[in-house]
Amino acid sequence: MQSPAFLPPVKRLSDYRAPEWRVPHIGLVFELDPARTIVRARLSVERNGDHQAPLRLDGEELELLELAIDGAVQPLPNPGADGLVIDLPDGHHLVETVVAIRQEANSRLMGLYASGGKLCTQCEAEGFRRITFFPDRPDVLSRYHVRLEADAGRFPVLLSNGNPAGRGELPGGRHFAEWDDPFPKPGYLFALVAGDLAALEDSFTTRSGRKVALSIWVGAADVPRCRHAMESLKAAMAWDEAAYGREYDLDVFNIVAVHDFNFGAMENKGLNIFNAKYVLADPDTATDWDFDAIAAIVGHEYFHNWSGNRVTCRDWFQLSLKEGFTVFRDQQFSAALGSPAVKRIEGVRALRASQFPEDAGPLSHPVRPDHYLEISNFYTATVYDKGAELIRMMAGRLGPDRFRAACDRYFADNDGKAATVEDFLAAMQAEGLEAPLFARWYEQAGTPHVAVEARHEPGAARLELLIRQSNPRAADAPPLPIPFPFALFAPDGRKLAEEPALLLTERETRLSIDGVGEPPILSLNRGFAAPVITRPAPGRAALSVLAAHEDDSFARYEAMQQLMLSALTDSVVRGSAEGVEDVARAMTAALGQWRDDPALVAETILLPAESLIGDQMPEVDPEAIHAAREGLRRALFARLGDQLWDIWHSCDTDGRDLSPQAKGLRRLKGIALGLLLATDDHEATAAAFLQYADASSMTDRMSALTALSHGNAIERVEVLKLFHDRYRGLPEVLDKWFLVQAASTRPDTRRVVEHLAGHPAFDPRNPNRLRALVLGFGMNQARFHDREGAGYALLARHVLATDRLNPQSAARLVQPLTRWRRFAAPWGPLMRAELARIGSAPDLSRDLTEVVQAGLA
Ligand code: TRP
Ligand code: ZN
Repeated sequence: MQSPAFLPPVKRLSDYRAPEWRVPHIGLVFELDPARTIVRARLSVERNGDHQAPLRLDGEELELLELAIDGAVQPLPNPGADGLVIDLPDGHHLVETVVAIRQEANSRLMGLYASGGKLCTQCEAEGFRRITFFPDRPDVLSRYHVRLEADAGRFPVLLSNGNPAGRGELPGGRHFAEWDDPFPKPGYLFALVAGDLAALEDSFTTRSGRKVALSIWVGAADVPRCRHAMESLKAAMAWDEAAYGREYDLDVFNIVAVHDFNFGAMENKGLNIFNAKYVLADPDTATDWDFDAIAAIVGHEYFHNWSGNRVTCRDWFQLSLKEGFTVFRDQQFSAALGSPAVKRIEGVRALRASQFPEDAGPLSHPVRPDHYLEISNFYTATVYDKGAELIRMMAGRLGPDRFRAACDRYFADNDGKAATVEDFLAAMQAEGLEAPLFARWYEQAGTPHVAVEARHEPGAARLELLIRQSNPRAADAPPLPIPFPFALFAPDGRKLAEEPALLLTERETRLSIDGVGEPPILSLNRGFAAPVITRPAPGRAALSVLAAHEDDSFARYEAMQQLMLSALTDSVVRGSAEGVEDVARAMTAALGQWRDDPALVAETILLPAESLIGDQMPEVDPEAIHAAREGLRRALFARLGDQLWDIWHSCDTDGRDLSPQAKGLRRLKGIALGLLLATDDHEATAAAFLQYADASSMTDRMSALTALSHGNAIERVEVLKLFHDRYRGLPEVLDKWFLVQAASTRPDTRRVVEHLAGHPAFDPRNPNRLRALVLGFGMNQARFHDREGAGYALLARHVLATDRLNPQSAARLVQPLTRWRRFAAPWGPLMRAELARIGSAPDLSRDLTEVVQAGLA
């Protein structure tokens, strides 16, 4: 373990100071070369305020070749490890630097790097300092003029931010392109791409009549697989005009797909760069889930043009100001494209699968963190998804019209500026929101609990409710404003009363409801209005009533999930199979309605993941949980087999049909098949093989492969081979082949993963591939947690090897081990030991150090 004296300094929100120097304009010239790129920068700098402080420019892994101030060449200073400090006498100066970058050696995928013969950049959060010396902080906004020069044969396409401003030939087979971005932006939004690319082209005319040229740039062979991304982009542009009054502001909008990328995509002004897996799609290579994810992420990055770019963040503590808001916006967009009910269920499921555990573990932090070591570690489910829930609560509280007015005000007041969460809240407050209360949500870590005690007085026909909120992570923090809609139902399913607009603001709230003649069933936090844990869960009889009769579709889904969780936890804790009958009955009823809304029924009958079952337990026993869940699957297969077969036979679709109805049928069919394969029933494995062989979509192919992947049928081996041979040339599809094997609950999975790490197509430098195989395994609760700790050792080896290449990836990969406190012996202590072993390795990156230290603390 590194001693604290060697730890890099913690950054704190309370230390924020306005920048000492501004850079109103920057000119950049890139002499691009596959091995070594020269960057010439001209910064007009301006002293900000009355002080004598020197100009500090960040820089990382840059070779300084020249420095000139106001045209006078300077003796070369020795830049410190993290930049240049330059004393300047006056208020305005011109600072010119020339640096060289060896981007070939850049495996961190931050700054300028090579991916598949292309050159590209990633500057968020602090990558611009790997391109040129600059005050690399989001509150320094500049106008950019960029010139790119490169070999015309190797790099025929040269892209940067803003509008094209000229191109031409240069001697020696080289050429250039110039780009001008009229909108001031921080360095993190800078981007360039150079390569041999082809485009799918289209256009969009904004509501004020500006015609925008749209291009999606990929390798020539992939152009036909960009159609869905293009349709999504046009839909997003139209939606942001209609829903938020936001119009696009440049003449061009470019998207480039690259195969090596640390994240999903990046919103660089006018030049979004995407992980190829969120661009390329057709029914033969992408599942319905992929199609939806592409629409959501294309929308997300596009929406950042206003929530992020036109209005950016003052400092990185404000990250959720752009990310939480933009996730909320992309969720609304996806809801509008498909089914709002299904989208909400998926969103809450994702929140509970990643954000709730994060908030209950050692990496828990507020939506606006107040300190960090490495900002890259804070691109988290909390900042993104809990952040989006906060916006959702505020939007719900204001209602659509006032929320829209508040957003208009926020954009108008902060356009061209670097803003804070307070600026957002001020705009909400101006339209009537209780903003000082909602501000508390940004400051407390932890998932709040809401406990409800009900007392029914039959004589007075009255229901007394005592509602208490608490936050186990922040016991003395002030109470939060919690929207808490609820309804009361009679045992026969009649709705007795409904309270849609309750806002809890105190630690305790007492309510008294008259005219309630019988003891009611409570349906709480309907629609998941607030990201809280509600206790106690109703009994199974009450849940059965709600699963059948709630008129809020989310609440119906929720009741069914609680019913399944109750049966599963009973089976883990007491070995009792009692709950199975209740689940089977409720599921039969739900399945009976599959024709009305197959997608909703599919979500409703989906069994909770093993990790979610673990989250409900005081300590996690992965073996007992796996056994209980498998037991429930077999029991449901035994009781519901006929109904499931009937559905499986009736849900055929044309793979090209991407309507919500067709997607819903495929989802239901896949879930039915998964239950039919609860045992290695011959008829079922044969059906899965048939589904694979006859599939007209990747969705059907993948659901057959996934269903087979956990069992022993010979069809599994056959189908894996067919898949590999068919898709070996398409990296983002081959990732599915790695993942499905890493996620298999077969007992030999760890050995398979070890073997696949030696497969010629396994490349640890590629984040998608690494994530598919190694993180896919780390999230496989049944097989990652073996009693000898061999799974942990496997993960640790990859974490340490990856840290040398790509610290951001390593810091993400290690996270499964940080949850050791939740696991029973022998697993928990073995996890901790492995985490400590990683921590004691020499020369860990700052990224990995921060996560490991938090995990051990
Ligand atoms: N701002 C990006 C988004 O849309 C996040 C992102 C892209 C990112 N690339 C990154 C964050 C690299 C950290 C490192 O959400
Ligand atoms: Zn984003």
